[in-house]
Amino acid sequence: MNANSGSRHKIVILNYGSQYTQLIARRIREQRVYSEILPFTTSAGSLKADMPQGIILSGGPSSVFDKGAPSIDPEIFNLGVPVLGVCYGMQLMCHTLGGKVVPSDNREYGKTLMTTSAVSPLIAGLPRESTVWMSHGDMVSAIPDGFATVASSANCPFAAIANEARRLYAIQFHPEVVHTEFGGQIIKNFLFSICACRQDWNMGSWIDATIERMRSEVGDGEVILGLSGGVDSSVVAVLLDKAIGSRLHCIFVDNGLLRHNEVADVENMFRSRLGLDLHVARAAQRFYAALKGVEDPEAKRKIIGREFITVFAEEARKFKGCKFLAQGTIYPDVIESSSSKDGPSQTIKSHHNVGGLPPDLKFTLVEPLRDLFKDEVRNVGRLLGMDSAFLDRQPFPGPGLGVRILGEVTEEKVRMLQEADVRVQEEVRKLPEYKTIWQAFAVLLPCRSVGVMGDQRTYEYTCAVRAVNSIDAMTADWTRIPYDTLATISNRIINEVHGINRVVYDISSKPPATIEWE
Ligand code: XMP
Repeated sequence: MNANSGSRHKIVILNYGSQYTQLIARRIREQRVYSEILPFTTSAGSLKADMPQGIILSGGPSSVFDKGAPSIDPEIFNLGVPVLGVCYGMQLMCHTLGGKVVPSDNREYGKTLMTTSAVSPLIAGLPRESTVWMSHGDMVSAIPDGFATVASSANCPFAAIANEARRLYAIQFHPEVVHTEFGGQIIKNFLFSICACRQDWNMGSWIDATIERMRSEVGDGEVILGLSGGVDSSVVAVLLDKAIGSRLHCIFVDNGLLRHNEVADVENMFRSRLGLDLHVARAAQRFYAALKGVEDPEAKRKIIGREFITVFAEEARKFKGCKFLAQGTIYPDVIESSSSKDGPSQTIKSHHNVGGLPPDLKFTLVEPLRDLFKDEVRNVGRLLGMDSAFLDRQPFPGPGLGVRILGEVTEEKVRMLQEADVRVQEEVRKLPEYKTIWQAFAVLLPCRSVGVMGDQRTYEYTCAVRAVNSIDAMTADWTRIPYDTLATISNRIINEVHGINRVVYDISSKPPATIEWE
């Protein structure tokens, strides 16, 4: 979001490393206001050059008492624009302006009841009592001169404070998370009542700015993109096509573990309809050979991952002189990896998309969706004119049907599962509640059982149908698919898919089960 804002109103967020920093930016985008996330080292002088309407100091994992703790240029408080400190941002504001912060052994984490105790534009429209989300160790024990208490909670006497004359505000809780009941109202109050922001930004502006930024990042270079057929890499393909046209080369690896007709669908969409330079690496047999005789789920995953990298690298080497690799990394992927480049966040786990290529292939990454959340990516895709059938696709795991064929993977089993799965898709799509289902798919079990078809005894495979409702795939509940739909799915699979004579429905939730079976 670092595009040139011109005369547009903007809010600057100084990043102290909270995993919620991008969520603050997202809440501001939702209000159609432009925002920029800048490092906490940004000086007051550099902000003056293109003065924001207001500044937000994000939360962060540090303590103001830590050696080398992230600080702030104190002159920022004298710029005359409103400042809102959130969590660590509040502690830093108080520490810098002469208040007192005390270390605390007891971390306050979770929902807390907050009571307002004064009138302030920051909390206008809030009831006297509401729920807020706290997540902090240290706490403010004395507020700086000129500040007044605006709200408090049982454990936190200074939940919200304000210096109305200087338009400096601070809150110990996180207004950007959904658990803070009136968080959206507080952000709106800051943006509009306090900073007088204009609503002069939208996702269309983001698209324009991103296309411009990619043009300047890439110059006259060429870019390759690993297209997976999923929403994120597809949106990146369309964005880059708009930015650099034929200098974008898409590589799609057919690992033989894709959905029914997937290769044809992707070719149709990207090559025939959008006119992109699409290279399909037809590597199915190579994957089947590598998977022959392998039953262990982790071993299968490793083999599929390794083969993917090898095939992708072989394709990529064909584009000599190409220096850029585009990826559909979105913000939730970034949170899981270190974001030391953008701020002092803690490393949680290294990201699975980045890296893995052989050392002779050195690329500069192009990741235009790094700041966006999934629904925003879909929205960008819609604004770019992409098919909703494509954008509203359910998630599909990287190792594909390899983790849905239990035990050894063979070409014949892939055929059976693809045919079963397409019938699940067709029937589930007819349900009015289809959009609320996170994923629905078929799984091929490694056991055979006896059945009877016509006058013939059969001894064939069992297919499990899995459908779950979920918000973020961290937890999931099995979907209560109507019996009639289950009956149709079962009849169709058993009658139409050669090799399957029994269908069962998976009624396990996550946890303790996972969504995928392997
Ligand atoms: P589980 O099975 O862990 O799945 O409950 C959670 C979500 O992640 C998807 N999934 C994957 N996605 N590569 C991916 O890109 C993988 O290896 C992978 N494994 C699981 C799964 O479909 C579900 O949405």
